[in-house]
Amino acid sequence: MAAEGIVAQKKKAEEILRVSCSLILDSGVMIKPWPSHALRGCLADHWSDFETAAKKVGLTGAPIAFVVSDNFGFILPLKTSDSQGWYLAGVQLSGTLQSLQQLLDATNVVLDQMYTIEQQQIQLDASAMQIARTFEEQCWLRELTKHLGLCRSNNSPQQLAGEILQPLRSIANCKQIALVISDKRTSYKFDLNSEVFGDGNWQIEDAETLVEIHRSEIDWEPLLGNMRFTELPNGLISSYVIVPIGQVGSPFAYLVAMDRLPPPTSNGLGFMYDPEFGSFEVGLMEEAGALLSTQAHNIRLFAETQQLVLGTLRSMTRAIDARDSYTQGHSERVAKLAFELARQLSLPESTCQEIYLAGVLHDIGKIGVPDNVLLKAGPLTDEEFEVIKLHPVIGFRIIEQLAKLDFTLPGILHHHERWDGRGYPDKLAGTDIPLMARILAVADSFDAMTSSRPYRHHMPLAKARKIIAEGAGSQWDPDIVAAFLRWVDSRIPNVEEVEDVSPLYESADSMWESVSSAVLSLNL
Ligand SMILES: [Fe+2]
Repeated sequence: MAAEGIVAQKKKAEEILRVSCSLILDSGVMIKPWPSHALRGCLADHWSDFETAAKKVGLTGAPIAFVVSDNFGFILPLKTSDSQGWYLAGVQLSGTLQSLQQLLDATNVVLDQMYTIEQQQIQLDASAMQIARTFEEQCWLRELTKHLGLCRSNNSPQQLAGEILQPLRSIANCKQIALVISDKRTSYKFDLNSEVFGDGNWQIEDAETLVEIHRSEIDWEPLLGNMRFTELPNGLISSYVIVPIGQVGSPFAYLVAMDRLPPPTSNGLGFMYDPEFGSFEVGLMEEAGALLSTQAHNIRLFAETQQLVLGTLRSMTRAIDARDSYTQGHSERVAKLAFELARQLSLPESTCQEIYLAGVLHDIGKIGVPDNVLLKAGPLTDEEFEVIKLHPVIGFRIIEQLAKLDFTLPGILHHHERWDGRGYPDKLAGTDIPLMARILAVADSFDAMTSSRPYRHHMPLAKARKIIAEGAGSQWDPDIVAAFLRWVDSRIPNVEEVEDVSPLYESADSMWESVSSAVLSLNL
């Protein structure tokens, strides 16, 4: 029990009994009464009587009045949760033994009530503190969850560490918090570096020194350093917490909370302030460490997956180019043109990016067309054309195996369908043809007309524009043709005089920059 609780009980008892009392502590040995006490003489002379009475009261818990010389002595037990007994000893000069006993019993009841109220107050304070801490913890976790929900691969793990650890400082009641990476290979793998967060005296070498000093203790469990003075390069530290992150026994990093913050002064909760770091702070730091480790791992996996998708796209387009060097660049131009058309149609940016990647892959099925047909210089026979017409289905079969790229399938399968239903492979018509495929059909035809082949020179731009305009409503979707004409005319107003179509494709980005940014922005 708090000392102020004992003092308050003593004061209350003295008020009721109207006499000054001495405080006696029984911890196996009775202490002598306070020398400043007015009745010291009486107490000292008959000390053995008081000692005997106190032992009795220690057993029963009930106050005792007894005759001592010409007066009445008494022992009143105080209420305490200590293993030690606290008593009041006093001498009453007037009244009767019976009336004193009754008064002592009444006082005992009052002290009981005081003690109960005080205990309830302590419990209430503890609950309030727990609620306040839980609330702060919940706020922190909610903020983190919100942030992590927005987290993409372009958030580096180091940025993430700052976003987790900066707000943790005030909740974990520490001035600075450091991330110390102990395993350099992991540092490289996760792209995480040692860093101190928060303003203060301590630098990263201080946190690293602390970790080094306690290395043998902290690989398996957190370390609480309260009043544990330790010499560091930049001074003497007295309070800190170290929590390992990663596998138990071989962590790859540590979180180090340095310097406990002074108690809050104006938030009304100052009475709850615990001057030492404890399990609350350790728990929070463990949560933060687990979050950081998991999220850094996820970011890495995410980046690896994107690299895999990019690698797949790269090798597939190289495979197409390798098969038919005469049409090199066709897929890239179709992709760019289709992307511009999608923008002209005011489609969402993510849809434009999807159409771009579908453009890159639209002829992937030509990998499966034999060389004597694919590379033939000159008009195809009907049989050969039937073989060529298989490429959308072959492309579909190839890409359907890749779940990450399945959004390109409608474009790959249907880019040779016609608005009037006379295309292939499914003879779809009108809006039954997926929008992506209708856009690719215009872009594909335009590029085929305006690029050269070994057996023919490319068509003049004005002629190609005219063919597309005239095909609106028969071969192509009239809305997409209208968008195409708007776009061509805005880029090349004097279309009759221009042979070179390159202004239509002008862009600072190389194909792979465009593909990479599409893969990133689609979070593939
Ligand atoms: Fe095609």
